[in-house]
Amino acid sequence: MSVRVVPLPATDARAWIDPAVHTYVTAMDYPRGTEHSRIGLWRDHLRRPGWTAVAALSTTSPSGMPRPSMSRLRVKASWARDGEILLGVAYGYTGRSDQWWNRQLRAGLAGRGYSAQQIRSITDDYFELTELHVHPSAQGHGLGEALLTTLVQDRPEARVLLSTPEVQGEENRAWALYRRMGFTDVLRGHTFTGDPRPFAFLGRPLPLIGPPQN
Ligand SMILES: CC(C)(COP(=O)(O)OP(=O)(O)OC[C@H]1O[C@@H](n2cnc3c(N)ncnc32)[C@H](O)[C@@H]1OP(=O)(O)O)[C@@H](O)C(=O)NCCC(=O)NCCS
Repeated sequence: MSVRVVPLPATDARAWIDPAVHTYVTAMDYPRGTEHSRIGLWRDHLRRPGWTAVAALSTTSPSGMPRPSMSRLRVKASWARDGEILLGVAYGYTGRSDQWWNRQLRAGLAGRGYSAQQIRSITDDYFELTELHVHPSAQGHGLGEALLTTLVQDRPEARVLLSTPEVQGEENRAWALYRRMGFTDVLRGHTFTGDPRPFAFLGRPLPLIGPPQN
């Protein structure tokens, strides 16, 4: 399977947003009905400051990928090669205090007794890794790492933060990837407003080379 990681243009979202959200919903095992509402949210995010996105594209499909998925994943754009399908996607933007996710993080930290100064030092200058997903048929080949590394390359922010569902023993590919890439705990066991599942906020300094030096 030969794969290349390419930047996704915000100005041509209609060419990639369907395959990207299909990959996301499939990777997260969300119900199909989720796609429509998520596309709206992903489109809103395109306008956020510092928005950037990358995709893993391939002209060959991984073995075991169902045919209907292949047609949903096809990217038809001048910047894509003939027949290329989208196997993974990642995007993020500059964190700002007026964003819901930022408010959730600050409230969570305050609830654990962090001082205003401590909260500012965590949340004043970061890139939010909002989404990172690889189609299940293409997982376990290093695509997630390639997407993450490319996405945060050359970012101006001091650190990268993300949230991910808590998993017993941190035993899934997302946790393995984040730990391997040097992400450490920022806030554990946080429940977002409207979602009963506990999440962890993780982060690490940028650039993403070498061990984290906090
Ligand atoms: C989390 C996720 C994005 C990780 O992507 P991935 O491509 O599966 O994972 P990685 O890039 O870490 O791949 C590493 C695996 O590829 C293997 N690999 C093969 N070639 C490799 C290479 N050149 N470089 C790195 N790893 C390589 C590693 O051995 C490792 O295998 P293992 O997981 O069986 O131990 C993906 O699993 C996913 O979409 N999961 C569901 C959705 C999700 O949880 N998203 C994150 C929500 S916050």
